[in-house]
Amino acid sequence: MISSPIRNGINGVPKIPGDKSISHRSIIIPSISNGVCEINNLLKSEDVLHTLKAFKNMGVDIEERDEKIIISGNGLHSLKEPKKPIYLGNSGTSARLLTGLLSSQQFNSVLIGDKSLSKRPMQRIAEPLIKMNAKIYTSNGSLPLSIKSSNLVPTKIDLKIPSAQIKSGILLAALNIKGETEITESKITRDHTEIMLESFGANIESIKTDNKKIIKIFGEKELISKNIDVPNDLSSSAFFIVSALINKNSHITLKNINNNPTRNGIILALRKMGAKITLSNMRTHNNENIFDIDVKSSNLNGCELGPEFADLMIDEYPILAIAASFANSPSIFRGLKELRIKESDRLKLILLNLQNCGIECKSENDDLFINPSQNYNIKNNSIQTDFDHRIAMAFCIMGTKIGHLKIEDSESINTSFPTFKNEFNKLGGKVY
Ligand code: S3P
Repeated sequence: MISSPIRNGINGVPKIPGDKSISHRSIIIPSISNGVCEINNLLKSEDVLHTLKAFKNMGVDIEERDEKIIISGNGLHSLKEPKKPIYLGNSGTSARLLTGLLSSQQFNSVLIGDKSLSKRPMQRIAEPLIKMNAKIYTSNGSLPLSIKSSNLVPTKIDLKIPSAQIKSGILLAALNIKGETEITESKITRDHTEIMLESFGANIESIKTDNKKIIKIFGEKELISKNIDVPNDLSSSAFFIVSALINKNSHITLKNINNNPTRNGIILALRKMGAKITLSNMRTHNNENIFDIDVKSSNLNGCELGPEFADLMIDEYPILAIAASFANSPSIFRGLKELRIKESDRLKLILLNLQNCGIECKSENDDLFINPSQNYNIKNNSIQTDFDHRIAMAFCIMGTKIGHLKIEDSESINTSFPTFKNEFNKLGGKVY
């Protein structure tokens, strides 16, 4: 894919797809609830479709009607043993959440994935579940992963790694445990699973204190299905937001975007940099906050963000790094260790590709330093993405400013935002 410079900014009202995290949960939770769930605006990207296929393969009645997905669930014990290994493509969220859910089923299962997913760490989810008596066998800590049927026991888990995927896997496992499972987290992670489980009638309670959150969940309570309207994805929006900020004569409006306070760091960070971002029409649906976002071209300042920001926006650092590259002063983003084990080593690829685009940057102890240039001398216009969708989209936005960039392996964008190119070009982008 080639991304080329644009002259007259980007303008309009793009259609942002449904939220990826909420879409996964919108399939998983109704599949183990009682009753019919109509899902509106589910993200139909490769990652989410892998989750959907997994549940079809476990006997769940899922159909598509008039753009909606209809899931008829039969309760906590209704999943059937899959006839073959469950293939999850590139999707880390599917892998971690399903490991949890399947570890407390009365059947065996095997999870497999593509080359990139098969390198990602799975011990982080296996370990707490094994503590709960799960029988999980990884291949040197990664997929393929084999899960043997087991009766899990109520356990207190201290989340060592701040990860919504690990927390959610444990919560899904706990649904089948007789008694109370207690999870303590000392750093914020996205709370979509707690929100949806609560609205489906799970026996779940979150207690927040100054520096931690304790989640208590009592299992073996049947869940009651509800219809779901998936809000649009802030992480996908971030590519268009930054593009509008750094390109002159831009003005875009993004509608129905999820504004969950455990995940909105990108808005806080960009505003700290002086971005002209106006939020309006705040509302709540299915206990998730939603808003519209208006963005205009802005002169950005550099900024320093502490590690607490990483908890609120880990997926947005690739595109934030692009914004920082066009600010009028240097930026420092601290505490980005988790970036190294996402769909790629994102810290490595941000540095490599920014340097190839002529931007002075370095990392020290997992902190990222960016010193914006005055002139962007491209050293190598081929962008290495290692099949990572967010690196590919972020450097597409870079191309709109500095010259023709060739984004390698850009088909990875289909894992989260299959309509990215079309929507961007409708606004005035030049991506071919
Ligand atoms: C996700 C959690 C985050 C995030 C990922 C989606 C989720 O991962 O990076 O894109 O849906 O729970 P971690 O749990 O590893 O932080």
